[in-house]
Amino acid sequence: MATEKLGWGIIGCGVIAPFHAQAVAQAANAELRAVYDIVEEKAQKVGAEYNVPYVTDIAELLAREDVQVVSICTPSGLHAEQAIAAAEAGKHILCEKPLDITLEKMDAMIEAAAANNVKLAGVFQKRSAPAVHRTRQAVRNGKLGKLVLGDCCQKWYRSHEYYASGDWRASWEMDGGGALMNQGVHAVDLLLWIMGGVARVSAYCRRLVRNIEVEDTAVAILEFTNGALGVLEATTSVTPGYDCRLEIHGDAGTIKLQGEEIVAWDIEGEAQEAVEDEARGAAADPTALDTAGHRRHVEDLCEAIIQDREPQIPGNEARKAVEVIKAIYLSSRQGGATVELPLSYEDDGPGIYPSQVIPKW
Ligand SMILES: NC(=O)c1ccc[n+]([C@@H]2O[C@H](COP(=O)([O-])OP(=O)(O)OC[C@H]3O[C@@H](n4cnc5c(N)ncnc54)[C@H](O)[C@@H]3O)[C@@H](O)[C@H]2O)c1
Repeated sequence: MATEKLGWGIIGCGVIAPFHAQAVAQAANAELRAVYDIVEEKAQKVGAEYNVPYVTDIAELLAREDVQVVSICTPSGLHAEQAIAAAEAGKHILCEKPLDITLEKMDAMIEAAAANNVKLAGVFQKRSAPAVHRTRQAVRNGKLGKLVLGDCCQKWYRSHEYYASGDWRASWEMDGGGALMNQGVHAVDLLLWIMGGVARVSAYCRRLVRNIEVEDTAVAILEFTNGALGVLEATTSVTPGYDCRLEIHGDAGTIKLQGEEIVAWDIEGEAQEAVEDEARGAAADPTALDTAGHRRHVEDLCEAIIQDREPQIPGNEARKAVEVIKAIYLSSRQGGATVELPLSYEDDGPGIYPSQVIPKW
């Protein structure tokens, strides 16, 4: 096992699939063996590009003995059902963000992985950026003192063409939300990872510009379990779109991150830190990603399987950002009322009603 490569399969051959294929090709312990999509041309294209067979039936992929791990790269509302099928077939899973779009389905996939003794890892590739690691470490080491504010601002741009590029995009049923559930989930995950859990939220979600079902803009006030407060802003409707900003303030110092770069390291007695990262941002263009983060995910999952340890972002960790977003949606549905976490399954629902705010564009 230690020297043999882990055979990889890809489920869903759209925009994000090549990032997984490249990440697998770059990882020492992994090898792509087959790809699957319900649309034959898409499966065929990715299969041909990476010189592996393609299938159009998930059962055929999951029956392959040379595949031990699958990447789930399908519309978000399909993740749980495909992860459960993979787990029941004994395959380890690397699942794209968000883990799924309901609390109940995320719990079902986490349980299926545990019951079938396979690893389930969620993708949040921005966590592996060196600047994010240094920030988190500084916070954990108490360098900022008592945490006071954890703010996060993700002002991105997604065109009408982007939303029109797939039926599932910006639908409650398959995307599970918009500026927050699809794009902002990265920022929410980083904020939680650095600041800790959220105790309560109050929020407004709106559809201000795009002719879509889900929110294109959201603002939330957060109270963390450690008592700190924070403000979260997420949109996909501003031009031209900017790198995500995270601002972490304590009574002894401040760290500000922009994209994957530290732009302020204001801690008494310490020099400003500068961190160069290999990754590029997707603020204005969803395809402008780098494969470095996905490669780290593939390498981590390989090691987790070989060493029989948890991956760095196991299912229950990837679930957290989705639960906070669901709390924000509930608050918005209730006109900005305070919502306490954890949420129950009954609290699960959209951020705005389809009738709310008819956009003009
Ligand atoms: N980590 C990131 O930064 C990042 C970036 C983009 C997308 N994503 C995530 O990746 C997932 C896919 O997004 P995308 O932009 O690649 O979408 P996409 O629409 O480009 O690709 C989805 C693919 O899944 C296929 N598909 C649909 N139903 C299927 C089924 N039942 N079985 C097999 N294949 C099926 C479609 O034919 C399509 O090829 C989403 O969950 C999204 O949130 C993550």
